[in-house]
Amino acid sequence: MYDEGPDYGEELEAPEFEHLLLEVDDDGIAWITVNRPKQLNALNLEVVEELRDCVSFCAEDPEVQALVIRGGGDKAFVAGADIQELAALGPLEAREVSLNGQDMLANVESCPKPVIACIQGYALGGGLELALACHLRVASTEARLGLPETSLGLIPGYGGTARLTRIAGVGVAREWILTGDAYPAEEAHRVGVVNRVVPPERLEDEVRELARTIMKRGPYAVGTALEVLRRGLEVGQSEAENLEADAFGMIFATDDAREGTSAFLEKRKPNFRGS
Ligand code: CAA
Repeated sequence: MYDEGPDYGEELEAPEFEHLLLEVDDDGIAWITVNRPKQLNALNLEVVEELRDCVSFCAEDPEVQALVIRGGGDKAFVAGADIQELAALGPLEAREVSLNGQDMLANVESCPKPVIACIQGYALGGGLELALACHLRVASTEARLGLPETSLGLIPGYGGTARLTRIAGVGVAREWILTGDAYPAEEAHRVGVVNRVVPPERLEDEVRELARTIMKRGPYAVGTALEVLRRGLEVGQSEAENLEADAFGMIFATDDAREGTSAFLEKRKPNFRGS
């Protein structure tokens, strides 16, 4: 269903970044920090390219089992695309910028490993769009989320119109986009934009526990489920069910499926190998 996994014998060297920090912890969680705190981590074009490279690297690196994206400093996750750069664009350039950002975020969404947005402070505009492309979102009670582009005389350009509609429904998407307001995390949780809300001091632990829970499951099954869910959203129900049946059949050819079912019957913990 997705590309064959990486070669597990190979050791990959992490690329160097100017605006991102990448740390892979002992659990195999890659903590990716967008690190421009003075600009509230605004996504300039360099950050967009670095995120593309970083997520591709983590998707390939056998050491990494889950990805977390967060913002540097304590004020913002990401406060949007860099308005300084946007202000200088003409229509054709702006379209290219939009397509390029959308393409990078499609890469985040199609990562076969779980990607969690860890949201403290502001997640606005392109910042919320980045979080929406992640598979799951955990926010601090202090976070504020929104799509303020209409207050700049713009509309969302990094997939926000499409993704917010799919995640929270067209009613919420219309309200958020038309008002341009920043909503408290509890409200974002109530309408399904974020999965969990916790006090700021719990945020990292909550994200780590969520990642660890998923990492205990069959990695091949997790990757396949992400793919089926994503592709299923793009087609009608019967085609989505066909995709599911094909993937369900294919998963029975994996060692992990044998291991998971045998472990249950033998009353022991499964030892998944991701194949
Ligand atoms: N782009 C560039 N710089 C930004 C920025 C952004 N999106 N957001 C904040 N900054 C900069 C500010 O200009 C400021 O820089 P200086 O210190 O050099 O003046 C610095 O970050 C700190 O910001 P503020 O002084 O404004 O901080 P605040 O606490 O008073 O306000 C805020 C915080 C409400 C988040 C405010 O910064 C804000 O409204 N930011 C813009 C949010 C926004 O409109 N985002 C959408 C961008 S458009 C987009 O994303 C298009 C798309 O879909 C692709």
